[in-house]
Amino acid sequence: MKLILLGPPGAGKGTQAKMLTDEFSIPQISTGDILRAAVKDGTAMGLKAKEYMNAGGLVPDEVVVGIVRDRLQEADCVNGFILDGFPRTVAQADALQASLQGMGKELDRVISLDVDPEALVERLTGRRTCKECGRGYHVKFDPSRQSDVCDACGGALFQRDDDQEETIRKRLQVYADQTSPLISYYKEIGVLLELDGMQPIQIVQEKMLSLLQAS
Ligand code: AP5
Ligand code: MG
Ligand code: ZN
Repeated sequence: MKLILLGPPGAGKGTQAKMLTDEFSIPQISTGDILRAAVKDGTAMGLKAKEYMNAGGLVPDEVVVGIVRDRLQEADCVNGFILDGFPRTVAQADALQASLQGMGKELDRVISLDVDPEALVERLTGRRTCKECGRGYHVKFDPSRQSDVCDACGGALFQRDDDQEETIRKRLQVYADQTSPLISYYKEIGVLLELDGMQPIQIVQEKMLSLLQAS
């Protein structure tokens, strides 16, 4: 299964991708997670990316295209992958098509998650993530049993630097301007599935699985 999860910040891409990795035994490739790891490690790429990320803008195409091209060559992608947060521009989508073609592969599906902008702000301001295992939570919609402690591994939960309201609004605008054109891009190729992302996490998960199984 070679899949893209498309949707605005807070749509639930990461949440649903984690479920799909278990279901299909294929890796989640989140450019956001890879970039945050580079920022944490203080690599040259991380230092450069940090400014764009904290401002709510996009990291330059050539940086993320290179990351994904290399990642898709790794052994665990042989049976498929879930791209989460990539591509985000038409140039990135074109580069992905070229990379896949070069590998003799084709995308199976692109799932577009649709969520109201005001719901996205509430989701992102209430998001918490485990420092150790990366599991995501929400203070209201998906709370951990003990506040600020991960149910799965006991790790401490943190709030992302870019989940401040002002930065969130900038990210939503960047999505509308630069990423939303990809919905018609993939519709034209004939691989787009659209899913209402406003329902509870569990319901979105069930609908996503039945969409994938039916297609
Ligand atoms: P990235 O990390 O990809 O962030 P994003 O796209 O802004 O998306 P999020 O991770 O914020 O949202 P999500 O859809 O994963 O939602 P989640 O499942 O966590 O990118 C960060 C930055 O890196 C970018 O701004 C950019 O600078 C850079 N970058 C990354 N990729 C790039 C690229 N390709 N090109 C250029 N730059 C790039 O859910 C959110 C919250 O809501 C959670 O708390 C969750 O519990 C809750 N929730 C989830 N689903 C539901 C539901 N159905 N109902 C209620 N609550 C829910
Ligand atoms: Mg995410
Ligand atoms: Zn954890």
